[in-house]
Amino acid sequence: AFNLKSRHFLTLRDFSPREISYLLKLAGDLKAAKYTGTEVPQLCGKEIALIFEKDSTRTRVGFEVAAFDQGAKVTYLGPTGTHIGHKESVKDTARVLGRVYDAIEYRGFGQAVVEELAEYAGVPVYNGLTDEFHPTQILADFLTMQEHVEKPLRDMSYVFIGDAANNMGDSLLIGGAKMGMDVRLCAPRACWPHDDIQQEAQRIASTTGARITITEDIDSAVAGVDFVYTDVWVSMGEPEEKWAERIKLLLPYQVNSALMEKTGNPRVHFMHCLPAFHNTETTVGKEIQQKFGIDAMEVTEEVFESPASIVFDQAENRMHTIKAVLVATLGA
Ligand code: CP
Ligand code: NVA
Repeated sequence: AFNLKSRHFLTLRDFSPREISYLLKLAGDLKAAKYTGTEVPQLCGKEIALIFEKDSTRTRVGFEVAAFDQGAKVTYLGPTGTHIGHKESVKDTARVLGRVYDAIEYRGFGQAVVEELAEYAGVPVYNGLTDEFHPTQILADFLTMQEHVEKPLRDMSYVFIGDAANNMGDSLLIGGAKMGMDVRLCAPRACWPHDDIQQEAQRIASTTGARITITEDIDSAVAGVDFVYTDVWVSMGEPEEKWAERIKLLLPYQVNSALMEKTGNPRVHFMHCLPAFHNTETTVGKEIQQKFGIDAMEVTEEVFESPASIVFDQAENRMHTIKAVLVATLGA
């Protein structure tokens, strides 16, 4: 077995393909145990701090329920109400929380912040999303892929289409490269990941056999893929003014029925980390409709609600995969 005790979980680049496979297997086992009522708590007496400098639904409940199922307790530290960042440095906060807790989850802005926390905390630190990476999401996505397509990850293909310069683009690029997959990013050049991330992915791919394609061309990018994946066009922390330019730039890359058909794969699946702008039921959705006259952005309601859509399996798997990370790093 693999020993991941006391490890941080900051990006998938820090884990070998075999370690990632191990976490996925553990997540599947923990999921099955929960379903059959045979889960054995391995985190009794552990306490975990959950820092959220940005909003969250899935990641917060994922960490909380995973911890509760395993017998651990959590403290939620939200965007306001602590001294973090404005009155107390990250370095000092890390040393304080490290004295009190057995592990720390952090969702926030720069990846450098979570790295600094990890450097000084003295306990495992988990990245719950930064501007650059969202590694717990990728574990959930790979588990979901394994549940829906019966072949090894290395034989699977996915296209991430839309804003590929965000945390999901970076993470799906590095994660797929690690697992030796057929990884395609499809976006206008202005929305491609930074050169250093692209080069890093290519370096990893040369050791794992992954095929990496980054292109503006939709037809070739989607041809034959197992999964079409998209994400919001403006991520948390980006300025509101981005909406206008991104909509103009990315509307041709919207995931709609025509695009799903272009894959040529009648069994293609649709994925999204969520939350998604697929209708006008939210305040932001209404605002976008009023300002720009569109009912959906990165994905249409039709595709989102279609049988091809596996987005709620992904959402559920956030909890099971986060639990695997907690058990592997903190368990007895
Ligand atoms: N996918 C995801 O991270 O969702 P939340 O922002 O709700 O945590
Ligand atoms: N790219 C999105 C992901 C949300 C889970 C964001 O950062 O807002």
